[in-house]
Amino acid sequence: LPARVLSGRHVIVTSGPTHEPIDPVRYIANRSSGAQGAAIAAALRDLGARVSFITGPAEVPPPEGVAVVAVETAREMRAAVEAALPADAAVMAAAVADWHVANARPGKIKKDGSGALPELQFAENPDILAWISQLGRERPSLVVGFAAETDDVLDNAARKRKRKGCDWIVANDVSPATGIMGGTENAVTLISEAGAESWPRLSKDEVAHRLAARIADALNAGDGM
Ligand code: C5P
Repeated sequence: LPARVLSGRHVIVTSGPTHEPIDPVRYIANRSSGAQGAAIAAALRDLGARVSFITGPAEVPPPEGVAVVAVETAREMRAAVEAALPADAAVMAAAVADWHVANARPGKIKKDGSGALPELQFAENPDILAWISQLGRERPSLVVGFAAETDDVLDNAARKRKRKGCDWIVANDVSPATGIMGGTENAVTLISEAGAESWPRLSKDEVAHRLAARIADALNAGDGM
């Protein structure tokens, strides 16, 4: 059994996609399975952390032994994260939709036979990672974001770390040819103020265990790295 090096610590993990309604029966979604986030929550739990697992509608079930808050939209996810504070660390693994449909309808949109097409208008969603990274007193001491990129993965991820204000970014290449999105493996680079560290292609469970161990090291060292 792993040492319970995170006992007494509270970690928030977001996971899965969000669904943004168009009307009561339709929504906009993305291809996140929630597998990496669930594995991270389980790995943190295995190290003894109390985990708040805030998940959108994922394909994989949430792990046992964590406090699950199931949400649908980005706005609900942000409210659930806020309600779960304070925390020692936050790992934002969710694939949060950037936009919601501003003119979502309370009733099902119907074809009226005239050939008229519905027009969707979009509004920006809250950026949960940027928000929590820039919180004052309630900011978790370690904030970890993800960057799923298809081009210039490391440059984009390093810029994202600065822009959002998080401590670490876990960067991965989600180009379709990698098979990572929806697959069981991941190849990531951990980016911090100190630099970038590429890990070999590993199972999502192994990535989770390594990341949880690094989080434990950072919290127990009492600094942001
Ligand atoms: O900007 P981008 O979506 O690429 O950033 C990805 C990171 O930001 C992930 O950690 C994701 O969970 C987080 N994010 C968020 N809220 C958003 C958009 C992204 O927490 N609205």
